[in-house]
Amino acid sequence: MAVNRLLPDEAVPDLEAYLAGDGGAGLTNALDRAPEDVIEEVAAAGLRGRGGAGFPTATKWRGVLETAAESDSPVYLVANAAEGEPGTYKDRTLIEADPYAFLEGVMIAMYATGARQAFVGIKEKFTRPVERLGTALTEMREAGWRGADRIEIHLGPDEYLFGEEKAMLEVIEGKLPLPRILPPYQTGLFATTTTPNPTVVNNVESYVHVARILAHGADWFRETGTDDSPGSMLFTVVGDVANPGVYELPLGTPLRTLLVDIAGASDVKAVYSGTSNTVITPDQLDTPLTFDDMSEAGTGLGSGGFVVYDSRHCIVKVLLTLSNFLAVESCGQCNACKLGTGEITDLLAKVDRGEGTQTDLEEILKRTHTVTDQNRCYLPVGEQIMVGSTVERFVDEFVAHAGTPCPSDRDVPTPLIDDIDEDTGEVTYHPRYHLKQADWSYADEEPADERLSAITTPRETP
Ligand SMILES: Cc1cc2nc3c(=O)[nH]c(=O)nc-3n(C[C@H](O)[C@H](O)[C@H](O)COP(=O)(O)O)c2cc1C
Ligand code: SF4
Repeated sequence: MAVNRLLPDEAVPDLEAYLAGDGGAGLTNALDRAPEDVIEEVAAAGLRGRGGAGFPTATKWRGVLETAAESDSPVYLVANAAEGEPGTYKDRTLIEADPYAFLEGVMIAMYATGARQAFVGIKEKFTRPVERLGTALTEMREAGWRGADRIEIHLGPDEYLFGEEKAMLEVIEGKLPLPRILPPYQTGLFATTTTPNPTVVNNVESYVHVARILAHGADWFRETGTDDSPGSMLFTVVGDVANPGVYELPLGTPLRTLLVDIAGASDVKAVYSGTSNTVITPDQLDTPLTFDDMSEAGTGLGSGGFVVYDSRHCIVKVLLTLSNFLAVESCGQCNACKLGTGEITDLLAKVDRGEGTQTDLEEILKRTHTVTDQNRCYLPVGEQIMVGSTVERFVDEFVAHAGTPCPSDRDVPTPLIDDIDEDTGEVTYHPRYHLKQADWSYADEEPADERLSAITTPRETP
């Protein structure tokens, strides 16, 4: 069932060991061909981005090249290693296990798109992956790998929006993670009014697939997965499961296999694939893990991270925690987003305290319709579909909770993964997230039982 196309059995210790495997074959094969032939190989493989939206990688590269040709502008390239989606840990796992394959994929993409320079955007707090990447890049530069001297590792902030592609460009330019208006293929890195510098942004895992596709070919890539979602994908599972961790599976594997058979979930009430999709309920567990099947089921694959909640959880508290995350992380450039996510969260907190009314529930749903007004980025769409779907599917529990104190005393931490211990399987979440405020500052430490009430404090934009 499990496959090992991305994750090696043992972490690759150094460049010598990487070369002793099939390391380098992808770049060598790419350099033997014309750049457009490299893009054609990726197109034939049907690779879809693993950062959340499942957008076809070759189509993205061609779109960037089109803008570059029209404007006679250079191309830039970004590797998105921010990994800020709740419930996701696969990019760090991948970088720690094999930073060489990731960097090789970046170099292939640079060659295929003719990129002038590439940046790896990664959070400064990811110290182990940052160190592994730095060492690998130095080794590859010293060994003269083509493009290695034009790759820069850019350390970024902890904010969720750092991973949003338009915000990542801002950070690489030395600014705050506030999404710009136009997408990277139209307004890229260091763009001016005369040169748009269209920029490719792909996820870490997407680049590793590129390296494998160029090493083994499009037909090999399609030997696993489905026609529409070929290849394998890394999935993270945390929450109420016996075996949390990162697993590589062929796309098309049923969600049940991942959550129940592999991760050991025995009591599933609600599952969230990050905070940008609808809630998944037990009746959907037989959905195949493909971009299209998940979307037809009304949800999405996201970046393959799943947080499982069992029946001992109060769904209001779960949704409050996830909505609070989006309300805090919203940057406030669009009023409807910052105010709407904040108001929905405050109303959920009221219901959670047992002070909610039927009118509050109606107001929550009403707000989900306007929270996306004039949005620059996808963040409030996540709020809209996550909140809307959860209230709809668990309407009886929400109604029963109105005017009644919470039936569960279980703490619901924000599932932002700091670490998954490979040996013990122990998952560590961001320990101070409950103190993060709407202006992105952190409140002073306080007793645990006062945590959720802090969510209702007045919000200010950063
Ligand atoms: C709020 C927000 C946060 C995001 N965070 C990440 C992230 O941490 N890592 C990532 O690869 N993509 C993230 N994305 C998606 C990126 O904007 C972008 O679509 C992705 O990096 C493209 O890579 P792909 O085509 O290889 O999937 C985020 C999107 C949004 C709206
Ligand atoms: S939609 Fe929300 S998170 Fe995105 S730019 Fe606007 S305010 Fe910021």
